[in-house]
Order: sequence, then structure tokens, then C-alpha cells
Amino acid sequence: MNIVILAAGQGKRMHSNLPKVLHEVAGKALLAHVIDAARSLTPQTICVVYGHGGDALRASIDAPDLLWALQEPQLGTGHAVQQAMPQLSDAQTTLVLYGDVPLIQAATLQSLVHAARDALAILTVDLINPGGYGRIVRNAAGEVLRIVEQKDATAEERAICEVNSGIIALPTARLAEWLRGLSNDNAQQEYYLTDVVGMAVIAGVPIRTVSAQGEWEVLGVNSKVQLAELERIAQRRTADRLLEQGVRLADPARLDVRGELLCGRDVFIDVNCVFEGKVVLDEAVEIGPCCVLKNASIGAGTRLAAFTHIEDAIVGPDGVIGPFARLRPGTELAAGVHVGNFVELKNTKVAAQSKANHLAYIGDAIIGSRVNIGAGTITCNYDGANKFKTVIEDDAFIGSDTQLVAPVTVGRGATLGAGTTLTRDAPPDTLTLSRARQVSITGWKRPQKQKK
Ligand code: UD1
Ligand code: CA
Repeated sequence: MNIVILAAGQGKRMHSNLPKVLHEVAGKALLAHVIDAARSLTPQTICVVYGHGGDALRASIDAPDLLWALQEPQLGTGHAVQQAMPQLSDAQTTLVLYGDVPLIQAATLQSLVHAARDALAILTVDLINPGGYGRIVRNAAGEVLRIVEQKDATAEERAICEVNSGIIALPTARLAEWLRGLSNDNAQQEYYLTDVVGMAVIAGVPIRTVSAQGEWEVLGVNSKVQLAELERIAQRRTADRLLEQGVRLADPARLDVRGELLCGRDVFIDVNCVFEGKVVLDEAVEIGPCCVLKNASIGAGTRLAAFTHIEDAIVGPDGVIGPFARLRPGTELAAGVHVGNFVELKNTKVAAQSKANHLAYIGDAIIGSRVNIGAGTITCNYDGANKFKTVIEDDAFIGSDTQLVAPVTVGRGATLGAGTTLTRDAPPDTLTLSRARQVSITGWKRPQKQKK
């Protein structure tokens, strides 16, 4: 089949410099949702009709499997499809989608295309408030006669609650012929794609209708209000899917997945967590409230306490992370690692059972097993121009408030005394400290406030 995606509309009511179809729902551009639904039908052709100022759009979403047709000026949905016709194969069915209707489901499209064999198939939905939509006009026998746009409809037609979603499928050769016959003699002086329905009736082509799964599936985005509504619908659907898979959510209304979230058995997610990119939570992972995870994988049984922030990092099993921990790109933690409050790790590998429980910055480091990193430890990995590596070997103990001036290595089993500024390697199994000797000065007086 051919798929045509209409995306030339201006989107004035978005009040934004970004083309409408590039606004995101669930972390993905509206048009990308539609393209993904289209791809899942494995069509021969996907042609996107884009409009003025659309070069940015085209550049940001282009892929080898997409064809593009410029519609300039925009004279209506029929005119838009006409721009795509030279790129479509005549022998096949054409499915028309809207770039601003992102929640359309592949299964629904499949039934629509199936219904369009030797027929014209329209995806319709019954609305309590059908205002603004094209109405499906049927005869007494229930056969579709035509679609009438709101602005051209009589009062009687406006009372019809079955509306056109805009998504139709039909034989391409007939479509080409009907499009040539369109006129813009209507209230909006546009070439309406919907007028092909009346033409099909006259030509004796059967008209079939397929119902959408719900109103949500065919909702379009014209404003930020509608964008926000669709975001909540999309999030609720994701939450329901996770619940059905057995994930426990403290509140399905307070979860945001802006990408792909894969969960093992017995995962628990507390409120107000945000997941971006691809996130994998292994069995029995527990995520505390207000955590943000982007492109991360969390091993089985690990607990993330509140306000943990993880990006481009891998956490092993049985870890205890947070609250207020920050794992930055390139962090890899092995099993049983503890990372506590206000600890920041970047480009650092930590082997099993090591702990950094309070207030530390560890960057560009390799940390062995069973290492204890005291409160206030800092790797001085940057000299203002270059970054250097810190190595801390197995069973080392790093005293509180230590600075490790990289490049530097702490040997296996070494101990650093609190407050050490380490500028040379610390030998294994030895206490190293750089503290000045403590003195007590008798007779010393505190400064007094001077009299004016
Ligand atoms: C259209 C349908 C209406 C249907 C409604 C569903 C027609 C004449 N009317 O109305 O029956 O109920 O959708 O939402 O088809 N577009 C272009 N080029 C154009 C005009 C539109 O690419 O010249 C694209 C828009 O970007 C959008 C889609 O087509 O993605 C629909 O356009 P819009 O103006 O929103 O159609 P409606 O008037 O709402
Ligand atoms: Ca319109």
C-alpha cells in the first residue's frame, strides 16, 4: 500500500516557532508517532506532504524510507493529497493519515486497509460534541452518501454525531481520478479530500466505515491545550500497559515515560518519576519518588531512593542509590554498590560492594571492590584544560574530605587519612596522609571588637 501523511498545515494556534508536527507527545514528535504507526504496516511508500517553512521539518525527521511532497500554497486536504500522487503506485491502496493525529493505532489502520479492498474505507468515531468535524451523512438504509464539513452543513446535518476522523483508505487509481474532479466551491474555498466520498458513491464504489477504538485515537493537536491533553492520554495508556504487565505504580496518573520503559517482574515505581530514552528496570527494582532516569539500566533488586538522577549509566543488581544521588554519563556500577546523598559520579566504574555514601564527586575513575569512599571525597580530575584518571584499588579506605589530584592511584588495601590531598600514588596496605601536625596554642585570645 501507499501511505500519505498530511503535515502541511501551519499550526497557527500553537503560537510557536516550531512546526506543529514537531511538538512532542511522550518524548516523540507528533509526526514521528504517525510515521512509526505507518511503518508498522510495512507499506511500499510513505509520502509526507509538508508545507512552507517545512525544510526544518524535513531535515529533522528525514529517513531513507520517507518520500516528501511540498504543498505550497495549502489549498485543502484534497489538494494536499494531490501533491503526493506522482510518488504513489497506482495499483495499490492509498491510506491517508494526519501528521497531527499521533495516537492512531496500527491495529485500527490494519482493519481500515482491510476494509478498503475494492472500496473506500473511512475511519469514523461517534462524538457527543461533534462540533468542527466533517459529518458522515447516511441514507435511510444506513449507507454512507457523503461527508459534509461543519461549515457547509445544514442544521440537520450538524446534529449528526458520527464524524470523519480524516483517515481514509481507498484504491489509488480511483483516488487520482476523483482528485482531478475536485472543486473548491465551498465555505472555505478549499479542495476537500472528503468530497471524494460523494464521488465514490456516484461511481458505485462501496463505502465502508471502521470505528476508532475511542475518541482519543483520532484526536488531533491544534493547540497547546490539546497537546497537553494528548500527553496525559498517552501517559495513562503507558501506565495501564505497565500495570497490566505487573508493574506496581504508586499512582498511574503521576508517571511520565518519554521513550521506552522495560520492566521485569515485581518492579515498583513511586510517584512523579520521569523516564526518558530507553530505560530498563530489572526484576524487583524499586524506584522512589521524583527520580529521573534517562537511557539507564538498573539491575535486579536495586533500590533508588527519592530524587535520584541517572543518565547514560548502568547500575548493577542489589544496589542502594540515593536519595539525591546523581549518576552521570559513563557511570557503571557493579553489584551491591551504595551511592548516597549528594554523591555525583561521572565516567566512573565501580566494582562490587563499594560505597560512597555522602557528599562526593567522583569523575573519570576506576574503583575496585569493597572500597569505602568517605564523605566529602573529591577527584580533582580536571586541571582546567585536560581530564585525568583516578584509580582506587580493591579494599581501599578513603578518609573523609580527601582530594585525589589525578592522575593518581590508591593501592589495594590502602588507607587515606581524613583531609588528605593526594598528589602522588598511595602504596597498598599503608596509611597515607598529608595532614599538618595538630598544634594547640595556649594563651591564644579571640579577636575583640574594636571600639570606635
Ligand atoms: C478535516 C476533514 C474533516 C475531519 C477533520 C478531522 C477535510 C476537508 N476535512 O478537517 O472532515 O472531520 O479533518 O480532524 O478534509 N493539511 C494539509 N494541507 C492543507 C490542509 C490541511 O497538509 O492544505 C493537513 C493538516 O496539516 C492536518 C490535516 O491535513 O494534518 C487536516 O487539516 P485540518 O485543516 O486540520 O482539517 P479540518 O478542517 O479540521
Ligand atoms: Ca481546516
